[in-house]
Amino acid sequence: MSDGKAFSPFELKGFRLKNRLGVAPMTRMSSSGDSIPRQDVLDFLVRRAQNGAAIVYTEALVTDYESAQGYPGQARLTTQREIDAWRSVTDAIRAAGAVSIMQMFHCGRMAWPEVNPARRSIAPSALALKQINPLTGEPYPVPDAMSRFDIEHVIKGFVETARGAIAAGFDGVEVHGAHGYLIHQFLASYSNQRADEYGGSLNNRYRFFHEAIRAVRAVVPEDRLLTVRISDWGIADMDVSLFGSREEYQQVVRFLSDEPIDAISISAYEYFAMAFGTDRNVAQLAREVTDMPLMICGKIHDRASAEDALKDADIALSAKSMLLNPNWVNDVREGKPLPLYRSEEANIAYTAEPLP
Ligand SMILES: Cc1cc2nc3c(=O)[nH]c(=O)nc-3n(C[C@H](O)[C@H](O)[C@H](O)COP(=O)(O)O)c2cc1C
Repeated sequence: MSDGKAFSPFELKGFRLKNRLGVAPMTRMSSSGDSIPRQDVLDFLVRRAQNGAAIVYTEALVTDYESAQGYPGQARLTTQREIDAWRSVTDAIRAAGAVSIMQMFHCGRMAWPEVNPARRSIAPSALALKQINPLTGEPYPVPDAMSRFDIEHVIKGFVETARGAIAAGFDGVEVHGAHGYLIHQFLASYSNQRADEYGGSLNNRYRFFHEAIRAVRAVVPEDRLLTVRISDWGIADMDVSLFGSREEYQQVVRFLSDEPIDAISISAYEYFAMAFGTDRNVAQLAREVTDMPLMICGKIHDRASAEDALKDADIALSAKSMLLNPNWVNDVREGKPLPLYRSEEANIAYTAEPLP
């Protein structure tokens, strides 16, 4: 197959992408004690670059030692040992002709004390998730509502982690504002019931995201990338749309378009699903209000779905296909019939089994 966009190059600020296919961020929970992923997990990322991916996102790294962590075995990037471990990964990804981006997040009310050194859970408001924690079988704790001091501390965590990523040679960093984690919790009136300047109007609920982006950009040089990820779904309390309406979603995209960022990564559950009761999908609704480079993700699994998704976006990311098929990019290039993997099949990501 030679037609279409998937294998055409794309200029993302100073970076020339050889095609439009990338590895979506995937948490692996393999960092035991030292906040550094297992070697086979790092090698997995390098191999995806060697096998043709144009962009490789890391798993979501957690941003501070107090309250950011939501899963066991998550990675951090604020010490020299951690920087050294990632340096060989970024060097190898670059040598393979791909772009590396470190994703980072704070889990907010989806964190739980047992996996955080300071055993604390914080969020915009003292509202627990309705859902129980699937990893513990227990309810999530009621988080402390964040004080101004907490907000500043958490933003410093994002900044420190971004500095670590730059020192480790990443081409870019991503602020994870999706999937119901802390930044998303501020954006959504469902989880943000604050009465101060961080709650109430959408302008106010967006303020924390804005401050995090601005603070991070100050330590990400102009010749590196800064991306953000957003979504209209969350990992927990799935029944609640985290954006109230099409208008809210598009207003957040407009706000982001005014930020000093280089791309917006949109995480859809299914890239093709019509969103917010409209006849348009989330990429189309974003494109209506921004010229910024867009990445799209969600059930892109073969050439046809990649080309279809790329009608409304510049870059297509895949998680499960990249996870389970080491030759996915080449198989897509050849137009092979490829499976749509089920979520249960991706659970192998959290085992000690090295992936090819
Ligand atoms: C094992 C696994 C781990 C994931 N971890 C993250 C993560 O750390 N950060 C993130 O933004 N999304 C994460 N996701 C979501 C994916 O990036 C992606 O948005 C989602 O799986 C849909 O894409 P797919 O249909 O290609 O799998 C994860 C998905 C899987 C399967």
